Amino acid sequence: MIFIKTPQQIEKIRESGRLASRALDLVADHIKPGVTTESLDAMIHEFIVKNGAIPATLGYRGSSGASPYPASCCISINEVICHGIPGPRKLLDGDLVTIDVTTILNGFYGDTARTFLVGNASETAKRLTAVTEESLKRAIAVVKSGIRLGDIGHAIQSYVEAEGFSVVRHYVGHGVGIKFHEEPSVLHYGKKGKGLRIQTGMVFTIEPMINEGVYDLEILDDGWTAVTADGKLSAQFEHTMAVTDKGVDVLTLS
Ligand code: MF3
Ligand code: CO
Ligand code: CO
Repeated sequence: MIFIKTPQQIEKIRESGRLASRALDLVADHIKPGVTTESLDAMIHEFIVKNGAIPATLGYRGSSGASPYPASCCISINEVICHGIPGPRKLLDGDLVTIDVTTILNGFYGDTARTFLVGNASETAKRLTAVTEESLKRAIAVVKSGIRLGDIGHAIQSYVEAEGFSVVRHYVGHGVGIKFHEEPSVLHYGKKGKGLRIQTGMVFTIEPMINEGVYDLEILDDGWTAVTADGKLSAQFEHTMAVTDKGVDVLTLS
């Protein structure tokens, strides 16, 4: 079932989404060589809790049989596509780092992710990151009442593949707001004019994971960490947005 949100609920999701975005702003200043991913996670945890919210990922049980997720954000470095678990790993010059934060504030979920580059990154890492961010922008630009989900997927896939990169199939955007992962699934690939029709009051994420090489992936023994099958880089940007009478309203802005 798709939960259609009222304007009042959308404002609550915006408050949560703004907090998640501010958590990313906070750690952006600490993306430097030598910093451990668990220290970034601790900063995010403290910031979220201090602001009266809950990190949605902490203790989260996915649909798979994996153990509860153990951290307040996901930190995914280089060939890690998503759901990287913060730990003692130190950031290195040239790393590509995706941080994904989901907050629950007053019962409402906001979900956002960005890719950061540490120090002097390769030209490929820079281009992959720029193309991934631009693919999300292009997808958001097509969102309005009456379009279909396939229009979103097409906007991402056609652009990304023309740039020579690939779109991850296994993970998708999702309805969000009242629960962490709601219907519908928002695929980051697809055909124009196909799929569910989008209507006012829908709130969902678009969160393309874009790979330098093949889109295939493997999941590590921790049950969470998804890595590219060929070991090449992967980047991701995510926003939560509402469909309104006026068009699209991005809810995860600082
Ligand atoms: N924030 C991720 C998403 O965009 C989900 C992370 S679930 C976790 O949907 F348990 F891995 F943290
Ligand atoms: Co999400
Ligand atoms: Co997310």
